[in-house]
Amino acid sequence: MSEQTVRLSLEGITAVITVDRPKALNALNTSTLEQLEEALASVAEKPEVRGLIVTGAGEKAFVAGADIAEMMDLNIEQSLAFAARGHRVFDALEKLHCPTLAAVNGFALGGGCELALACDLIYASQNAKFGLPEVSLGIIPGFGGTQRLTRLVGRARAKELIFTGDMVDAARAQDIGLALDVVPAPQLLDHCRAVIARIAKKGPLAVARAKRVIAAGADLSLAAGNQLEREAFADLFRTSDRKEGMTAFLEKRPAVFRGS
Ligand code: CAA
Repeated sequence: MSEQTVRLSLEGITAVITVDRPKALNALNTSTLEQLEEALASVAEKPEVRGLIVTGAGEKAFVAGADIAEMMDLNIEQSLAFAARGHRVFDALEKLHCPTLAAVNGFALGGGCELALACDLIYASQNAKFGLPEVSLGIIPGFGGTQRLTRLVGRARAKELIFTGDMVDAARAQDIGLALDVVPAPQLLDHCRAVIARIAKKGPLAVARAKRVIAAGADLSLAAGNQLEREAFADLFRTSDRKEGMTAFLEKRPAVFRGS
């Protein structure tokens, strides 16, 4: 049986997935990716979860990349399958029903940076370091980095980071729009839990729909994106939550959303 390297904990509205492979700075090997996929499937079955935090065990690393020792002996077919697995798992993360938050608590390099990029929101501890150093190994990012980093920070900054392989610290990551907030390490998880608590006060169907429309719109023209937006907007008028939200506003009381 393979070693357990991914932990899932459920804290009511919040789920926390921790990549826990300290001997390799939480690097992602095939078994860890499989366990991550299982943990995500388990969260996907829990509509009561309103936010997922993804983090790394220990104080040094979020995830230091794909496992270089495992990649060392891959042939061409296996390298394609390895990247395809990474894409599948990170796509599942991106499509999860609820907002996903990367709590980047140290090195987020290569596949680790790509894991953070597959989350909706990235928060960093002051000691976090981000980078896509794959060109140092003679390869390129293989778990979505060329695509998601470009969409997040723009083509020129993405090219700079990917061509140089440079690491950036948390403050710089915030400057370029990669990390949203930078907080002292001991406060990072609670900072993320507080964001989820704010989101959880809102209509769950509306938040989930906003997430889907934003994701779909990234690959569409403005006109096509707006078409999706108005269909989703109108669809939400069918829900009891819409009625409750507007009634509560007019009655000057907090809304009680039921997700229906
Ligand atoms: N894969 C496998 N093992 C790794 C690893 C990785 N990505 N990153 C770190 N480790 C291992 C080290 O080999 C070392 O193991 P040993 O103790 O058995 O020698 C252990 O973790 C501790 O690492 P270091 O001794 O190197 O720690 P350090 O503090 O000196 O350096 C570091 C930290 C700068 C993060 C350095 O470990 C490093 O550069 N790691 C590799 C980062 C990297 O290149 N990531 C991208 C991988 S490629 C990729 O991710 C492809 C993709 O897109 C799919």
